[in-house]
Amino acid sequence: MPVITTIADLKRLHKRRTPKMFYDYCESGSWSEQTFRENTSDFDKIRFRQRIAVDMTNRTTASQMIGQDVAMPVALAPVGLTGMQCADGEIKAAKAAEKFGVPFTLSTMSICSIEDVAENTTKPFWFQVYTLKDDDFMQRLFDRAKAAKCSAIVITLDLQILGQRHKDLKNGLTAPPKFTIPTMLNLATKWTWGLQMLQTKRRFFGNIVGHAKEVSDPSSLASWSAEAFDHSLNWDRVAQLMKMWGGPVILKGILDVDDAKKAAELGADAIIVSNHGGRQLDGALSSIRMLEQIVDAVGDLVEVHFDSGIRSGQDVLKALALGAKGTYIGRAFVNGLGAMGEAGVTKALDVIHSELDLTMAFCGHRDIKSVDKNILLVPEDFSGRWA
Ligand SMILES: Cc1cc2nc3c(=O)[nH]c(=O)nc-3n(C[C@H](O)[C@H](O)[C@H](O)COP(=O)(O)O)c2cc1C
Repeated sequence: MPVITTIADLKRLHKRRTPKMFYDYCESGSWSEQTFRENTSDFDKIRFRQRIAVDMTNRTTASQMIGQDVAMPVALAPVGLTGMQCADGEIKAAKAAEKFGVPFTLSTMSICSIEDVAENTTKPFWFQVYTLKDDDFMQRLFDRAKAAKCSAIVITLDLQILGQRHKDLKNGLTAPPKFTIPTMLNLATKWTWGLQMLQTKRRFFGNIVGHAKEVSDPSSLASWSAEAFDHSLNWDRVAQLMKMWGGPVILKGILDVDDAKKAAELGADAIIVSNHGGRQLDGALSSIRMLEQIVDAVGDLVEVHFDSGIRSGQDVLKALALGAKGTYIGRAFVNGLGAMGEAGVTKALDVIHSELDLTMAFCGHRDIKSVDKNILLVPEDFSGRWA
């Protein structure tokens, strides 16, 4: 077993152990992948101020996200098809998050269903929904999430239409995989993945198949997805969905100050500054470049969370120092899951926690809640004048 010290180590194992179509599904962005690349490379432009002769004893990364206690302000982001990276992937990731004391967010497009995750965990998790047209289906999803004791809903606002990822088209991505010759040849090299998949019955979209009208089997799912998303979405509809749920709401996919103000006006409990990990509008600015101006505009009206591009605890610390009250990791935990299942997600969280904790100390702080922009050296034009 190789010694794992970084998320990059987990990513290498993920690539080795998971079928190409699912690894590529994770490790890709839309079109030219400029935004996907810059989400991570822009973090490198920010540096830390080294401080010395400060008390580093009794440190804590404990904090709160939307009033809920977290061991560190790092949640697992909603990731579709997680149960294809590794058998029962959502259950394994949720268990790792629960043991660590951080929130797990289940995607509507998960393989394991809301009920599967609830039955296999003991603490409330968060549930992510898209803005779909079918009110009956949305209401049933909310009811199921309530019955499963989900403590917040994440509404994703940056995916009415799907960004194009070239690799998914070239790989013919499906869940479960179709048995074409290239797929078979690739699967033949992924024995452990295949054996574990054979042992689970969870291989289809568990929240949709058998629940959405006219989707009784996986083959009818593609036509349902094409029809289901509400291309005419507007803020009134967002307010309507928030009312239908009636509990804590996090609005995800905000990358613009005007949109952040609108989301704050609706009374969301939090917003997530996010460009969907560079999977939607290629050519958009990286999330980290947009964070500070959004915090300046709405930070005293609504809790601001952040995702896209986090690959280390140092990245988490930079986002917190720029004003985020919470962060999410997507690919970083999926790399862990694809590498080593539940233990891999735990490893990803351990790596991030250790990097966060030590960097906080080197910067002269003992409590994550006291960290602010003073710990950073940010290039003058970082947020930029992009008129
Ligand atoms: C493979 C994959 C699938 C995703 N599926 C969803 C999804 O179903 N719903 C959603 O709101 N976001 C989805 N996202 C976006 C993540 O929630 C998150 O915004 C993104 O991964 C953050 O960027 P990072 O991967 O660089 O951390 C997905 C991301 C990836 C990588």
